[in-house]
Amino acid sequence: MAPPTAQRLKGKVAIITGGASGFGKTTAELFVEHGAKVVIADVQDELGLSLCNQIITWFNNNDNDDEELITYIHCDISNENDVKDLVDFTIAKHGKLDIMFNNAGIFGDPNPSILTTTNENFKRVFETNVYGSFLGAKYAARAMIQGKSGVILFTSSIAAITAGQAPHAYTVSKHAIIGLMKNLCVEMGQYGIRVNAISPGAVSTPLAIKALGIDKDTMDGLISECAVLKGAALEALDVANAALFLASDEAKFVTGANFVLDGGYTLPNPTFSMAVEESLGRTSH
Ligand SMILES: NC(=O)c1ccc[n+]([C@@H]2O[C@H](COP(=O)([O-])OP(=O)(O)OC[C@H]3O[C@@H](n4cnc5c(N)ncnc54)[C@H](O)[C@@H]3O)[C@@H](O)[C@H]2O)c1
Repeated sequence: MAPPTAQRLKGKVAIITGGASGFGKTTAELFVEHGAKVVIADVQDELGLSLCNQIITWFNNNDNDDEELITYIHCDISNENDVKDLVDFTIAKHGKLDIMFNNAGIFGDPNPSILTTTNENFKRVFETNVYGSFLGAKYAARAMIQGKSGVILFTSSIAAITAGQAPHAYTVSKHAIIGLMKNLCVEMGQYGIRVNAISPGAVSTPLAIKALGIDKDTMDGLISECAVLKGAALEALDVANAALFLASDEAKFVTGANFVLDGGYTLPNPTFSMAVEESLGRTSH
């Protein structure tokens, strides 16, 4: 048996969009820990730069004086020039691109009704979540095809599986990401490029807290109350661990997969059996 590989991304170069906060931030930390050179792309410059400084300082204090471990670059993923510059910058700095994690996204207006939501909101959510992910995938594919290897990852959501939980624009955008992931998987297979998505359930990141308008503790409490799987709660680190697996060579035959991280939440629909129980005067537990 071979000894376990401590650094599962050693020698790899990764871009993480939305890397200044939430899932992207935690994934950036984990990828660096696992030996990758990481470029984080975001529009929150202060947060992104301070994350890089924190990570570099931590590694420097632990006998690693590599200043290139992690870099921040301002990139609005819905702007084609920004995305092109992001990929060009990464190639110029590190010589290649192995992993593109198209993770940045916005929730948009939390208003759930089609009658009152604005067209501008729909377009803005699409421009970021769908067009932004498309651009990330397009420029990453261009950079990866010659090397005949690479991994393109997307962050979708359980909103792509169950309905009625998020506004239309967000829900449709996350379905679209799954469509893009699957179609791209078929096209990229011939070049040895794997394409996968992660669909997490709710986690109290800044995006979710702002979207729902509740505090972190209330949100965490409600999430565990509604969970199918008891005794565990989804955290940003679980999403990062899924990204680590999918990006690593351990997942060398995994492509076209939607990795659902929801503790079983999207599976049950007990409404009919509950109605039967109720009509029989029995209460379900
Ligand atoms: N938190 C959840 O409950 C949840 C569940 C399922 C899926 N998601 C998805 O996970 C992804 C990450 O979200 P998060 O929860 O970590 O939220 P977050 O707000 O903490 O992080 C998202 C990051 O994306 C960045 N971003 C937004 N628009 C951008 C743009 N145009 N260009 C570049 N960067 C941009 C933000 O500045 C932010 O740093 C999103 O795609 C989101 O839809 C979140």
